Amino acid sequence: MKIGILSAGGDCPGINATIRGVGKTAIVEYGMEVIGINNGYSGLINNDFVTLDEQSLSGILTLGGTILGTSREKPYKKSETDAVEDKPALMKKNIEALGLDCVVCIGGNGTQKTAALMAAQGINVIGIPKTIDNDVWGTDVTFGFDSALTIATEAIDRLHTTANSHKRVMVIEVMGHTAGWLSLYAGMASGGDVILIPEIEFDLEIVAATLLDRANKGKPYSIVVVAEGVKLPEETKKSPARYVAKKIQKITGLETRETILGYIQRGGSPTAFDRILATQFGGYAAKLISENKFGQMVAIQGGEITSLPIGEINGRLRLVDNMHPLVLQGRRMGVCFGDKIR
Ligand code: F6P
Repeated sequence: MKIGILSAGGDCPGINATIRGVGKTAIVEYGMEVIGINNGYSGLINNDFVTLDEQSLSGILTLGGTILGTSREKPYKKSETDAVEDKPALMKKNIEALGLDCVVCIGGNGTQKTAALMAAQGINVIGIPKTIDNDVWGTDVTFGFDSALTIATEAIDRLHTTANSHKRVMVIEVMGHTAGWLSLYAGMASGGDVILIPEIEFDLEIVAATLLDRANKGKPYSIVVVAEGVKLPEETKKSPARYVAKKIQKITGLETRETILGYIQRGGSPTAFDRILATQFGGYAAKLISENKFGQMVAIQGGEITSLPIGEINGRLRLVDNMHPLVLQGRRMGVCFGDKIR
């Protein structure tokens, strides 16, 4: 068999470990031919690819980013400025010309959506979920999340000492445009006092009251973790961290500073957990292909590596539930989520 691998959407640590996991298993265990498609779905449209062999797959396990490059190309989305008329037809033609039996699509929600549309068009695909946001429906966790969590946690740990020295409120903005997983986990892992996530509507008066209460109890400083995708109470050009920090200082009179963690969260080497998950996902994808089981997304459910029909995702996102055990545990310890529930 001959297979193609691509990575699409925002990068994250662990993509190369996945490419290696798919590629090495395909070559060593199943005797397949493997090519890498450059720059996500753009590479399928432009016929831009490289041959992957055991040598080119060596030494990439620990490497951040993706050796294949990535893009946010959405071939099924019609754009008036598109020079290419029918991208899906072009992709199919190129896949057939290359003689690919399957395309492995590594990516987050957007990537899985495109892969499902390819499957509906009669192209053999396997999806592998990756994102630091951890919001892909159908899998308990995506690789990239643990690495980003480790980085965000260390960053917040570092804010504690400077916050303490200056007796300040520190607001830190963590990635997550729709889901609050990273903020919730990093906030809880680093002892955040307030955690604001897109899934829980917050009231800044409640946040301010919590911070004043802490100050009145003699706590010299506070840490506020804000997800980048929180719904702010009014239209503003300010970042969520800046907006929240300004408001807190205004309402409480406590000296407040903000930090935006940004792309640092997506860079660098994957954690051991992510390397293992990525390697297992990759190996499982190769196995599915060898069994002619296409149109699936690889997943981990209850600790087991498995897969589900990729069409089942159907635009759904995996979001934080208000009753998630970690939210409940936070509330039980006095962490403020900005709402009235304690
Ligand atoms: O990878 C997901 C994510 O980190 C989101 O949380 C964030 O909004 C987005 O990527 C930003 O990425 P880019 O600027 O590359 O589109």
